[in-house]
Amino acid sequence: FAAYVVIGNPIAHSKSPAIHARFAADTAQDMRYAHLLAPLDGFAATVQKFIAQGGRGANVTVPFKLEAYALANQLTTRAQAAGAVNTLIFDDGLILGDNTDGVGLVSDIVRNAGFDLAGKKILLLGAGGAARGVILPLLEQQPAQLTIANRTVAKAEELVQQFQQYCAQPGILSACSFADATQPFDLVINATSASLQAQLPPLAADVFSPATLAYDMMYGSQPTVFMQFAAAQGAHVRDGLGMLVEQAAEAFFVWRGVRPHTDAVFTALRAQL
Ligand code: ATR
Repeated sequence: FAAYVVIGNPIAHSKSPAIHARFAADTAQDMRYAHLLAPLDGFAATVQKFIAQGGRGANVTVPFKLEAYALANQLTTRAQAAGAVNTLIFDDGLILGDNTDGVGLVSDIVRNAGFDLAGKKILLLGAGGAARGVILPLLEQQPAQLTIANRTVAKAEELVQQFQQYCAQPGILSACSFADATQPFDLVINATSASLQAQLPPLAADVFSPATLAYDMMYGSQPTVFMQFAAAQGAHVRDGLGMLVEQAAEAFFVWRGVRPHTDAVFTALRAQL
């Protein structure tokens, strides 16, 4: 069988082995997918050992996505743009780094939520690793506008500089402070880590309308504070569980060349939250 792992620290909580086991069973792939804990100072050594044992690929999670980016000796365009790697492919000495997080988000929004992004106005909250990872796949959907709002505005401006080269037209991409985001948007994505501390970015209620989809990249058994705030303004809300499943499906496709169905896995995970 072909061997895959998810590497992180901590890692025991990861849902990826269960997701990929289901994908493998549904598509009749002869593979195994396990957890692999790497010491905080031993990511590269852990990867090299797994490769020596015949490993074919790995997912990478907190806190190693930047180290995986550095370790790869080749990168996909989307990994390069994200500046981080969540999927590694091992092939005869090659360590190819990919990033499926952004495509996972877009698949969940466009396919699963049925929300077309072409011509839409998007507000992206946050300018850290999670935000950076989704910008290129969002731009590929040809939105009319992608505005990045961040507490530290300079970080949002830096991202605008870096991603200008991927814009079909100038002016699509812009940066602002939370205070300056006051118009309604079609889609508002929370890519800040604020939900982790049950905090709400200081956001004007005006960015939401009843037509807005408010998407939190976090997920849990309860709606996040961001989702609660958006719902109170009449917006549609969605959490990041679908993104988790879709980024896994994209990694599975990269490794195995087969696209798994995601509905049943999503429903099962939701029931377990
Ligand atoms: P991640 O990898 O999850 O993106 P990160 O790179 O540390 O983590 O980025 C965290 C993001 O969440 C940043 O955009 C951060 O804002 P700053 O750049 O101003 O630090 C944002 N963030 C974290 N806590 C926040 C809060 N309570 N309110 C608003 N933004 C917050």
